[in-house]
Amino acid sequence: MTYDPVRGTYDVLPDAAAWWRLVEEAVRDVARRYNYREIRTPILEHTELFTRGIGESTDVVHKEMYTFLDRRGRSLTLRPEGTASVARAYLSHGLQTEAPFQKLFYLGPMFRYEKPQKGRFRQFEQYGIEAIGSLDPTLDVEVIAFAWTLMRDLGLGGLWLRLNSIGCAEDRERFRELLQVHFSDRLDRMCPDCRRRFETNPLRILDCKEERCRKEIEAAPGSADHLCDECADHFDRVRALLDELGLAYEVDARLVRGLDYYTRTVFELVSSDLGSQDSLLGGGRYDGLIEALGGPPTPGVGFAGGTDRLILVLQARRPRVPAAAPIDLFLVTLGSEGRRIAVRLAEALRRRGLAVEIDHRDRSLRKQLTLANQLDARWSIVIGDDEASSARGTLKEMASGAETPVDLSPEALVRAIGRAPTDD
Ligand code: HAM
Repeated sequence: MTYDPVRGTYDVLPDAAAWWRLVEEAVRDVARRYNYREIRTPILEHTELFTRGIGESTDVVHKEMYTFLDRRGRSLTLRPEGTASVARAYLSHGLQTEAPFQKLFYLGPMFRYEKPQKGRFRQFEQYGIEAIGSLDPTLDVEVIAFAWTLMRDLGLGGLWLRLNSIGCAEDRERFRELLQVHFSDRLDRMCPDCRRRFETNPLRILDCKEERCRKEIEAAPGSADHLCDECADHFDRVRALLDELGLAYEVDARLVRGLDYYTRTVFELVSSDLGSQDSLLGGGRYDGLIEALGGPPTPGVGFAGGTDRLILVLQARRPRVPAAAPIDLFLVTLGSEGRRIAVRLAEALRRRGLAVEIDHRDRSLRKQLTLANQLDARWSIVIGDDEASSARGTLKEMASGAETPVDLSPEALVRAIGRAPTDD
């Protein structure tokens, strides 16, 4: 019997891992340029963090969390997203007293019990940023600019940004009532989920993908048309700054996002390559979250994207797997003495920073050279009994076939290969 990966999870095999490194390195590099520092929080959190932070009536909390009791009967949850955890860590460590303004980024697995499909998994990876401690619209724009820069660095065009403002808590309450008025006499034509949302979370109705509901949603009021003066001014300034930076967006009055902590600015970057799961990343402001978690009133803004989803789009656009780091030297061994010398040399060269491989299966010369080619080794050298006893060998450059006699010492090989020692 063999075991398959759990439904909705996947293995990243070594070839595909190159894509992951490509994205992760790009995120780290953009984070460096925008001065966001890395934070790593646990995968396990107390369930209450998410019920309070994300909201009981959201789909994520209501039906997608991996929640269980630990051996002492405490309810724990595998984190479904990173923002609540980062806000919790900000409070747990009193980061607000160290420096009230914090710009943080993270990479890591998240868990949601969703219906698996293309671009949607039960264990998925997110990259995300959170900027905590300022209400200024320049920060909303910086967060959006970060997302655009990341996409540009990865060479991804053909994306667009949906932008909206859902206002402050009071605006949301008023908007909620407006939506209930709008939908009250349309409900009997809408799906059961929307009928439930009408009571628990009418904003979520705007997100429904069902055809029969879309028709009723089209005529619904838009949140950005019903903002208080301060929120309207904030939204105007966000748009003016985006215009000034030449960052494209389209205001989408239907965009509300699926998590309850959002206030004011919300956005999603979307790609047509993803079909129905078109959201490459999403985010917004959460000016009430930290207070809801028991902290002082502290605004925040951020976004997160699915790394796996981003890789799907990258692969669709640039099918070539990013090149793996090549092997510097392949030591072909013949006989036990040759093997003994090769093992010693390989070890010494690796300590000096070179990538070195030998064949561990005692195979023919031809098979070992085939392997050296498959690994894209830059150089090879055959070490048999003669080479072992004379401590001399012939270094072959694989691409050109050019051969150079060398001493079989680590120093001579490092010199011949032309790489400076990095260790020892
Ligand atoms: P979210 O919209 O729930 O927001 O998720 C953000 C992104 O994570 C999505 O746009 C998508 O790329 C990816 N994602 C979500 N669920 C899945 C899944 N099941 N499989 C694959 N990818 C998925 C948040 O998580 C917020 N914490 C974002 C945020 C940060 N807001 C402010 N700061």
